[in-house]
Amino acid sequence: MSNNSRMTPRERMVRVYDRTMRGSYQRRYYDNSGFFNFGYWALGATSQREASEALVDRLAAGIVGKPARLLDVACGLGASTKRLTLSFSPDTITAINISDAQIADARVRVPECDLRVMNATELGFPDNHFDAIICVEAAFHFDTREKFLREAYRVLKPGGALMLSDILFRPIPAFVSNAAQVPRANLVPNIMAYRARIAAAGFIDNEVVDATSDCLGGFRRNLSRWAGSEYRAGRMKLSRAIGTGLVGKLIAGYFGLTCKKYLLVSARKPS
Ligand SMILES: C[S@@+](CC[C@H](N)C(=O)[O-])C[C@H]1O[C@@H](n2cnc3c(N)ncnc32)[C@H](O)[C@@H]1O
Repeated sequence: MSNNSRMTPRERMVRVYDRTMRGSYQRRYYDNSGFFNFGYWALGATSQREASEALVDRLAAGIVGKPARLLDVACGLGASTKRLTLSFSPDTITAINISDAQIADARVRVPECDLRVMNATELGFPDNHFDAIICVEAAFHFDTREKFLREAYRVLKPGGALMLSDILFRPIPAFVSNAAQVPRANLVPNIMAYRARIAAAGFIDNEVVDATSDCLGGFRRNLSRWAGSEYRAGRMKLSRAIGTGLVGKLIAGYFGLTCKKYLLVSARKPS
């Protein structure tokens, strides 16, 4: 890969994710689960790992019956894919990510599934192929989200389900959206406009739930307190807990400033 200044936005994003997802602080916060999302805290999760599992379960609950083919888009290190194998047969699950390194990790975590390096906006699958698509907390990165929605529509069978969690960012300055790797075209102003974009891609039965408090809020609260609770449980030294706690509060504050809404989305391709 080229040096930092010559990298494309996509290369930069992959590098940032490859590094942060596998860093020691993140691995510890996520209890080595491989997850990297805000999680779903409404059902009483007591740790980030439980909340991240609950988020996948919440989305997977919208998939009716047993799909013959299920696609996990932007599967990260394969934790969402692994969670899906508790509900669906592993040989029915395909998972993709744009990063070779993340897919390599995912292959170790969940070798029984079909893992592929692929861009969510250029899905290398035939038309009408999948019964359901799930995408956990990644569509805001895709260049663009609309391209992904059109591709998801194309590869879904008639009647197939699309389930995603997604983020609406505030109208942030270009240097912040570039740093967060959120293309400007993905800065949708509100839920109504978001729903219109899902409908414009052809989907019906669109449900867009505002889960900002249950997902983003829970994550921010947990991250802000995590280092203190690790210290009180005797798992972190005081000096480390002070620094880690400060970083946690800064990250929680950053997401509070930049993220406007956290959405749980379900939609269907017409039969
Ligand atoms: C916030 S992480 C979520 C990872 C995982 N879904 C989870 O819940 O743990 C966002 C993921 O999106 C992936 N990603 C970003 N752009 C992508 C694209 N165009 N195609 C496929 N994956 C992409 C990143 O590599 C990263 O793994």
